[in-house]
Amino acid sequence: MAENEKKVVFSGVQPSGNLTIGNYLGAIKNFSRFSEEYKTFYCVVELHAITVRQVPAELRKRTYETLALYMACGLDPTKNTLFVQSHVPQHAELGWMLDCYTMFGELSRMTQFKDKSAKHSQNINAGLFTYPTLMAADILLYQTDLVPVGIDQKQHLELARDIAIRFNQLYGDTFRVPEGYIPTDTMKIMSLAEPTAKMSKSDTNQNAVVYILDSKDDIIRKFKRAVTDSDTRVCFSEDKPGVSNLMTVYRAFTGKSFEEIEREFDGRGYGDFKLAVGEACADGLAPVRAEFDRLIKDKAYLEEVMKAGAQDAFVNARRTMSKVRRKIGFVNI
Ligand code: TRP
Repeated sequence: MAENEKKVVFSGVQPSGNLTIGNYLGAIKNFSRFSEEYKTFYCVVELHAITVRQVPAELRKRTYETLALYMACGLDPTKNTLFVQSHVPQHAELGWMLDCYTMFGELSRMTQFKDKSAKHSQNINAGLFTYPTLMAADILLYQTDLVPVGIDQKQHLELARDIAIRFNQLYGDTFRVPEGYIPTDTMKIMSLAEPTAKMSKSDTNQNAVVYILDSKDDIIRKFKRAVTDSDTRVCFSEDKPGVSNLMTVYRAFTGKSFEEIEREFDGRGYGDFKLAVGEACADGLAPVRAEFDRLIKDKAYLEEVMKAGAQDAFVNARRTMSKVRRKIGFVNI
């Protein structure tokens, strides 16, 4: 019974591109800290990924890779439920139902929808629009208490809460209302080329983005080229977005505070600093990369993990769905 009394953590990562150090620091790195205290579900959300066009073979490959990466980042499949979204059909099922309790106006206000529809103006499909409702379904299916996500997902999370509250008001207690867990110490990692924009895995400028699986040389080269400013001082300040971003990365990989970093590089200029950031990042990611390389060779094992995860998720999702069907007024046979 103890397992059922544990609070629940759920999070998802799209397999739509190589994951960046932003995904790593802002989300995945924090996932493993929950597994002792919580029942944890971590999901590769490929249903979300098809809201933009995907090459089928690539999507499949990335689904394996994302799972392997989860594990390489420290998620033990015996302590966490690791699974693939489409393997648990209740996600799509509840997604549809929640569509009917989500307002057009609410979805229209989502900044990610506005951004993505500007970017994919030839393919503004209905899935792109209802993306946040599917995300709400992911979360609410497992009676989730806590959702660790990057700050860019805050608006979607608030919508998930609103939908849960609305449904509960209509039908009585059905869904637990989730809280976000948004790490404030790393926050957003910004683009290395344009430090006022978020580092995005789909950026066409490869120098702007550091991927978790980049080689040491690539990582160091990218940080060397990072855009800073015409000043020379390493200090954290709003009018120095490039330097502040590098300090955020450095702090995340070394555990040093901003004050310590400022002191460390006092009078040393940007060249030294950028190299140190690159090295700290590459060294921090080296063990992740080694473990990933080992895991990705073993498809059979990854499939075993997927299957076991899907089975466990299914049982939990089914419990919520039977409640939802009853509340809405569907006939149970
Ligand atoms: N939308 C999230 C992102 O792009 C991914 C996601 C889908 C997710 N479903 C979720 C995150 C449920 C947390 C919980 O990052």
